[in-house]
Amino acid sequence: MKSTLREFTSEDWKSLQQHANNPAIAKFMTNQFPYPYTEQHAKEFIFRISKMQPAQVFAIDHQGECIGAIGIHPQADIMERNAELGYWLSENFWGKGIVSACIKEMLEYGFNQFPINRIYARPFGSNLASQKVLEKSGFKLEARLEKVIFKNGIYEDELIYAVRR
Ligand SMILES: CC(C)(COP(=O)(O)OP(=O)(O)OC[C@H]1O[C@@H](n2cnc3c(N)ncnc32)[C@H](O)[C@@H]1OP(=O)(O)O)[C@@H](O)C(=O)NCCC(=O)NCCS
Repeated sequence: MKSTLREFTSEDWKSLQQHANNPAIAKFMTNQFPYPYTEQHAKEFIFRISKMQPAQVFAIDHQGECIGAIGIHPQADIMERNAELGYWLSENFWGKGIVSACIKEMLEYGFNQFPINRIYARPFGSNLASQKVLEKSGFKLEARLEKVIFKNGIYEDELIYAVRR
């Protein structure tokens, strides 16, 4: 299966909304990624990220459709040498190595494009697939913050995984 990263276009809102509108994805994301995920959420998201220069968020493309997204976000102030990585993929495409391949591309992009020396991700303690993907991609577990996340009425651990330049 061939999936590639590309920038979003304004027409992506439809496939974005279709694939993102899934509680099995939202359950592992911050509340910025809601369920239900409406047409308006999709349009506002594309509008917001399209202003970022250089691009920080890319669509995961499959046959012209946006089936997921991956983003790298440089931090500010004393954390300016760090960037946070975030990602999700349509449930129909899980378990095929797609996001692992995307992370590889994004690490190269991030370290080339931004003056950072650390890229980190913060999966929930219960998100075993995301932890596996990060470990396969060379990230090291730096910390486990116990029961700091409160999502859908449940306390969750936050894990901090990072990779250095
Ligand atoms: C996490 C996510 C992005 C992974 O994408 P993906 O393309 O399916 O990932 P990959 O196929 O590259 O790798 C998944 C790995 O996790 C493993 N895995 C999947 N579910 C698992 C589970 N419940 N327990 C342990 N390992 C699991 C797979 O076997 C695979 O490892 P392998 O290649 O050694 O077999 C995807 O599941 C997703 O979008 N989840 C919901 C949103 C989310 O969690 N985003 C990340 C927030 S930090």
